[in-house]
Amino acid sequence: MSLPGSTVQVPTTGVTPASHGARAHLFTAGTVEDYRRVLAEGIGRVATRMAEVDRPFTGVTPDELVPRIAGIDLDRPLGDSGAALDELHDVYLRDAVYFHHPRYLAHLNCPVVIPALLGEAVLTAVNSSLDTWDQSAGGTLIERRLIDWTADRIGLGPAADGIFTSGGTQSNLQAMLLAREETCANLVGRTTERQSRPELLSRLRIITSAAGHFSVQKAAKLLGLGADAVVTVPTDADRRMRTADLAREIARCREEGLAVMAVVATAGTTDFGTIDPLPQIADICAAAGVWLHVDAAYGCGLLVSPTRRHLLDGIERADSVTVDYHKSFFQPVSSSALLVRDRRVLRHATWHADYLNPARMVEQRIPNQVDKSIQTTRRFDALKLWLTLRIMGPDAVGELFDEVVDRAAAAWQLLSGDPRFEVVTRSQLSTVVFRYLPAAAGREVVDDANLYAREALAASGAGLVAGTKVDGAHYLKLTLLNPETTMDDIAHVLDLIAEHAGWYAQTRATAELSCPVG
Ligand SMILES: Cc1ncc(COP(=O)(O)O)c(C=O)c1O
Repeated sequence: MSLPGSTVQVPTTGVTPASHGARAHLFTAGTVEDYRRVLAEGIGRVATRMAEVDRPFTGVTPDELVPRIAGIDLDRPLGDSGAALDELHDVYLRDAVYFHHPRYLAHLNCPVVIPALLGEAVLTAVNSSLDTWDQSAGGTLIERRLIDWTADRIGLGPAADGIFTSGGTQSNLQAMLLAREETCANLVGRTTERQSRPELLSRLRIITSAAGHFSVQKAAKLLGLGADAVVTVPTDADRRMRTADLAREIARCREEGLAVMAVVATAGTTDFGTIDPLPQIADICAAAGVWLHVDAAYGCGLLVSPTRRHLLDGIERADSVTVDYHKSFFQPVSSSALLVRDRRVLRHATWHADYLNPARMVEQRIPNQVDKSIQTTRRFDALKLWLTLRIMGPDAVGELFDEVVDRAAAAWQLLSGDPRFEVVTRSQLSTVVFRYLPAAAGREVVDDANLYAREALAASGAGLVAGTKVDGAHYLKLTLLNPETTMDDIAHVLDLIAEHAGWYAQTRATAELSCPVG
């Protein structure tokens, strides 16, 4: 049937068979067999690739990949999943960076647990959105239980609450938003002087340590604070915040008429895996009446550690805490949360929209997470952690994290006793920062040799390590998050680094001898 004066065809019954055209691709009651088949095919390809991966990276370069991906005509579909998976192998699966490989030793990426992958499969298929009850139902309550469970593990007290976020960066951003609003409200309440909002914002300061995460600076920028809003205090020899300097900075800010809106302590610095002295910092913040945020994006795994929970002592005194389950709980990206001591502060993230979350819902006590989040549509990431806890349990997750912390301690010992290397502070978690020291080389050559070694290792694909700067000099970093990484793996990668860096230093010395500068 067609409409008068139109060539548009409309179905006469209003129902098109599920197998017909575009609709065949929709996941509906009529396509569950396709869903089973296609997903099983995809899982099969990933499983095959995971099993055959013999190094964390193939060493593919952007120049090699760019034309392969650019050459695909996105307007001409392949039509079937098998062909698309073949193509995907070529542009992604073959050359992906594989975190489950024991010689992936670079960033804070973990291998993931199978219960969480089950959760991921379920949550994307059902596709709940955790903004309102009428888009999620039980999902909202499951997320709430996990927030309560995490807050209990931290010890935040009966008024605690929180929200799942996309990652530590977002959790830290939201924490700083809440701290900013609480501080502004206090400042306005305390003075009769009228101050414009920009004037108020320009007076706000966040104090963190020199080893804190850069997302704090980013948050300050996004929150409209001044360029000098983040004050970094130095760290001690163990790369932990110097508390005397923190107290001094708070006093200095006060004297200068500035308002410290938050102190950000780090429980697991990204580079050094060290934990700021939380009890002392909590004392200082309590005495000064300053919001304490603990960035435990990395160190949160200690919450379930059977042997090391005490390293987080003092975290229970925080006003807000960032936890990244996608770092030390072996969860797939994304899975993070922001927890707060006093649920009322989450109101700073609330906006009532008539179509979604009108204020009357609060009166009707309809549970709803969008009022606590800076997102609207939001993934049901909590389900991954739920199934992890229901299948494995928290102790098993903690045991996995303990293993990598033990391994990092052993790697630090190994490096300390190896004259080829210099190793920086001993981590409380699972990083090791070190560098190769070529004999009788100047600072520039040492820097370049280490940079070269990292790149050469990555290009070979035999292992991946990270790099960072310590006091202006280039260092290398192992981040151990895979319990399958053995000391043999670590020793092997260190030998390769020594070989590459040694070769570089030697080649450069020879070149300089044959062609002296000046
Ligand atoms: C201490 C710390 N905080 C925050 C972040 C940011 O987390 P995400 O990458 O999940 O945004 C990181 C990331 O490495 C981190 O190490």
